[in-house]
Amino acid sequence: MNEFSDEEKDGLYKTIFSRRDVRSGFVKTAIPDEVLTKILNAAHHAPSVGFSQPWNFILIRSAATRSMVKASFDEERILAAGRAEEPRRSKYLSLKLEGIMDSAVNVCVTYDPTKFGPFVIGRNSIPETGVYSVCCAVQNLWLAARAESVGVGWVSILSNDTLREALGLPSHVVPVAYLCLGYVKKFSKRPDLEETGWLPRLNLEDVVYYERWEQRPDPQ
Ligand SMILES: Cc1cc2nc3c(=O)[nH]c(=O)nc-3n(C[C@H](O)[C@H](O)[C@H](O)COP(=O)(O)O)c2cc1C
Repeated sequence: MNEFSDEEKDGLYKTIFSRRDVRSGFVKTAIPDEVLTKILNAAHHAPSVGFSQPWNFILIRSAATRSMVKASFDEERILAAGRAEEPRRSKYLSLKLEGIMDSAVNVCVTYDPTKFGPFVIGRNSIPETGVYSVCCAVQNLWLAARAESVGVGWVSILSNDTLREALGLPSHVVPVAYLCLGYVKKFSKRPDLEETGWLPRLNLEDVVYYERWEQRPDPQ
């Protein structure tokens, strides 16, 4: 039995393959509250270790807060450039890697390890599963946004200390993802970093092993 029609499956794969990280081409149109709520609700239905739902979504519209975050980006971008050799350094500096001020809304997705804790089923041996759960929520958000034609860009060239201060996070809460959301002029067919020749997409067969690390082809 398959509960999904071919059309429904096509819709899912279309969303997955046409999702992009968007940093430019944001338009001014606001995201209606009901659309934003649908996107956040999709994120909120992600899997989570022990059903701990350890995420929160902080919606940031304030220009002052965004400016603080943008200043952190500017600083961290230069710091990171110092770690790259030429000609990669100049190429890195030529890339647009954030849409903090030009997107409709910023969303910080956080991890709260105290939620339903301290005993959470499945988190004892691998504590990182808490943060993994938040990343699952981010991916749901990203896909739902794509289905709604809302672009999302993840900005990680940031100081978490600045985020903590700007957003008033308690010390036990971890900022996991800083996202810029908004309607866009277009979604690129391929990742920007592929388009600009930064990196190629790997072939699927190059990332699949069988039974043991690096074992290929399939011995069966
Ligand atoms: C954890 C994480 C952090 C990222 N940080 C940034 C970032 O700081 N700036 C940026 O432009 N893109 C960032 N990206 C987006 C990636 O560059 C992008 O996903 C990748 O190039 C593939 O492109 P696609 O998402 O359009 O398929 C990040 C993505 C992830 C998953």
